[in-house]
Amino acid sequence: METILSGMQPTGHLHLGNYEGALKNWVSLQQRFEMFLCIVDWHSLTEEAADTAGLAEKVFQMAVDFLAGSVDPDKCAVFIQSDVKEHAELHLLLSMLITVPTLTRLPTYLEKKEQKGIDTYGFLGYPVLQAADILVYNAHKVPVGRDQEKHIWLAADLAKRFNAVYGNTFNEPQVLLTEFPAIPGLDGKKMSKSLNNHITLAESDEETARKLRTMFTDPQKLRKGDPGRPEICPVYLLHRIYTPGHEDIVAPCQSGALGCVDCKMRLTVNLNQVLAPIREQRKKLVEKRDYIFDVLRDGAGRARRRAAVTMAKVRENMKLIYY
Ligand code: TRP
Repeated sequence: METILSGMQPTGHLHLGNYEGALKNWVSLQQRFEMFLCIVDWHSLTEEAADTAGLAEKVFQMAVDFLAGSVDPDKCAVFIQSDVKEHAELHLLLSMLITVPTLTRLPTYLEKKEQKGIDTYGFLGYPVLQAADILVYNAHKVPVGRDQEKHIWLAADLAKRFNAVYGNTFNEPQVLLTEFPAIPGLDGKKMSKSLNNHITLAESDEETARKLRTMFTDPQKLRKGDPGRPEICPVYLLHRIYTPGHEDIVAPCQSGALGCVDCKMRLTVNLNQVLAPIREQRKKLVEKRDYIFDVLRDGAGRARRRAAVTMAKVRENMKLIYY
């Protein structure tokens, strides 16, 4: 059976974009692959090294969302990156095989450096740590969105380079592109936590209703009766995902018969219905802290055992054996 590794930074509560873009996909993959799912706490330090006070709770909430969203801990090892020190060891060794200019040319590096003014050694090494996350399990495939594609190619390049220098050790991991419909946020831009335009799995039905009432629509449709353009409306984009028979909304929107308030109310009902089982599961799991911790410890144990096998081979092939 092929191995899959994926990772996510512990941002706290998952939003609809994370759910549609990552979580749902993992749940279908866990049936067919041996799967490792890593909550990458060290990666989150590359941007916010000083702000660690809330990290433990964010990790916990993320683990709850994974399980509430049907990740099955029996099929998929869910664990925290820093529980498996082999990631750090491999990161260090891989860092010898990549040049600084290769890393400074990456668009992800350039954007963050520009936006946030981060330029630490640790941040520069972000993709090398990501490569270590993947290679330490000898993963065959890595499910990610298009924005992460270059990082997986870099991991494959590092595998190839390592194999060339020290002899065959790693698979060259492949990207498993996750194609999913774009999830617009409340302002019509891509849903993201940093833009604060998101709907979370954890929030209440009422909170979702309140947020959707504020969602952007066609700016030319100011009141009921005005003709609308579903093709440019972010609310309609969500209807396409969550409303069975959404085609029936098009004509009344265009004619003006359907106002935005009513249209959003329909969406709210449908979206809350989709999220209901996850929210229900979540409420139970959030009370079972010890169970969640057990799942993470057990996942880390399985991950560590696998990583230890890879690292033994790495040390042997590198001739880092002294006794
Ligand atoms: N960089 C990824 C992201 O921002 C998170 C990540 C870290 C990851 N390590 C990984 C994803 C390994 C896939 C595999 O989304």
